[in-house]
Amino acid sequence: MRTSFVCLLASCVSCLRLPADIDNWVQIKKKTHRTTIPNFLDEQAIDEIYQKYPYILQYASSDKGRRALDDMMKEEARLLTRHYVVMEIGVFLGMSAARWLNVHPNIAVVGVDPFSYPRSTSKEVASIPNNLQGFFDHDGFCQRLTEHVIRQQSPESEDRWGLVKGFSPTAAMSALKVGTVDAFYLDGGKIRNTTQFTLYINESLRTFHAHNSDALISGDDWSHKRTPTLQNSLRSFAAEKGLQLIRSDDQTWMMGKNVGRHRALQKHDFIWEVEDPEKYMGPTFSEIIESTKIGSESIMTPE
Ligand SMILES: C[S@@+](CC[C@H](N)C(=O)[O-])C[C@H]1O[C@@H](n2cnc3c(N)ncnc32)[C@H](O)[C@@H]1O
Repeated sequence: MRTSFVCLLASCVSCLRLPADIDNWVQIKKKTHRTTIPNFLDEQAIDEIYQKYPYILQYASSDKGRRALDDMMKEEARLLTRHYVVMEIGVFLGMSAARWLNVHPNIAVVGVDPFSYPRSTSKEVASIPNNLQGFFDHDGFCQRLTEHVIRQQSPESEDRWGLVKGFSPTAAMSALKVGTVDAFYLDGGKIRNTTQFTLYINESLRTFHAHNSDALISGDDWSHKRTPTLQNSLRSFAAEKGLQLIRSDDQTWMMGKNVGRHRALQKHDFIWEVEDPEKYMGPTFSEIIESTKIGSESIMTPE
């Protein structure tokens, strides 16, 4: 009797055991792509730009929010015996990707971007010499420059990053189908048309949450004037899915199941946006989309 009780207990415990902690970074990496060298002159230009004009690589973002996010990612990555996979939507020239690779040796980064920006006419490259500006219109140049930046900024991480060329969320799917992503960082797709942007952010959030409901979903542009529906879209999505939403400043936001549990947050200031999803009283996603169609931003979130 006693033996069978022990056996029963043992089998119950094994039923409760979580699935093996599979490291599927290798599968995800197979879906990424490195550019071949466009030509010798492009290679020279890439290094010259990197060495002499590093300021064009920086996209203005708040370091306060980024430091909080770094610490949250590090807290999760150090608990794992596998890679902690971060997907960055909107890589630009790779500075954030390189930053996360340096945060912890378990972190792997897959970056999704069309890599068609900046162009020779973009304001970002307006200050560099004319002979270098033209390279930005060469096919594959921006992706190749991004690869160079990541290699220079994070030389020890060659096996922990990969790039997917194209527009998210469609382009992200090939990687999402083959392995689990632990964290998403949304920093691309500031479409001028507010209805289109709202649909884009809605589709992105649904795709990433359906892929991994435990994922940390974060991003930039909390108060960007070009994306006025972002805040309400994030709040209503968090409430719908039972997630918490915080922001560290006017730019960086973080969302996930019990996101406030992170010990790393104890040494950073943050603001609750959705602490108890059940108490959310604001507009639904469809109401937010409808408000954009009548050209009104009159739906406000209650204090
Ligand atoms: C603000 S920059 C990203 C900056 C970068 N995260 C960093 O911290 O250095 C925006 C980038 O988003 C990209 N982008 C725009 N729409 C996108 C989409 N739908 N999917 C992926 N990337 C997109 C642009 O090509 C551009 O490189």
